[in-house]
Amino acid sequence: MRILQITDLHVGLEGEDTDGVDVRENFVKILASIRSQKADHLVISGDLCYRDGNKDIYYWLKEQLDSLTIPYDLISGNHDDPTMLAQTFAYNGRLKEGELYYINRIEGEPVIFLDTTTGVVSKKQLQWLTAQLAAHQQELIIFMHHPPVIGGVPFMDRKHYLRNMDEVQAVLTNHPYNLTIFTGHYHVEKTIRYKNLEVNITPSCFFQIDQQSPEFKVDHYRVGFRKIELADKMLRHSVCYL
Ligand SMILES: [Fe+2]
Repeated sequence: MRILQITDLHVGLEGEDTDGVDVRENFVKILASIRSQKADHLVISGDLCYRDGNKDIYYWLKEQLDSLTIPYDLISGNHDDPTMLAQTFAYNGRLKEGELYYINRIEGEPVIFLDTTTGVVSKKQLQWLTAQLAAHQQELIIFMHHPPVIGGVPFMDRKHYLRNMDEVQAVLTNHPYNLTIFTGHYHVEKTIRYKNLEVNITPSCFFQIDQQSPEFKVDHYRVGFRKIELADKMLRHSVCYL
């Protein structure tokens, strides 16, 4: 099974200045690069929009994504609107009281998708997650926008961390098997290990954040995606920069 993950596209309205970065072009270039990868599945892990969820942006993205002819899953980030996302991509069955979280089988493997739009994993969602983990006594892959751990990136850890991290960790670390978690949000490439969790932060399609500065500072503008391969019970993944 080969899944490609792209994250934090931050696409603006047509003609909108997105901090001097042509994010639409970045996205189109990444999709062009993805075409040659023979992927089974694509995951877009949130922050599709520059600032706020917008239907025109979602429709434009849907057009680009549908042209790939690779099945894909989406989750919502803090710069998205999960209801609008579900409407645009016809994910209505996956929307639960305004939140977009679900489980999908990709090439037979159960994969969990969480919604952290509000900067937390809601109580309802945590109950659902607890039940899903109990029902799947095995190693699992989870996609969520916010990392459920402190990432070691001072600006993001101080200002934009997952606010109910302790509660979320309590549920995740209670699972008796390893969980491999793929996130975005931090605009860095990083892996953090904690108990049974391996948390992998994938770089943004917009810009990457300096990993030392306590204030907001761009590190670089190289963009990329993550390639995740599961074969013979071995999980390999790496980031490919354009
Ligand atoms: Fe984000």
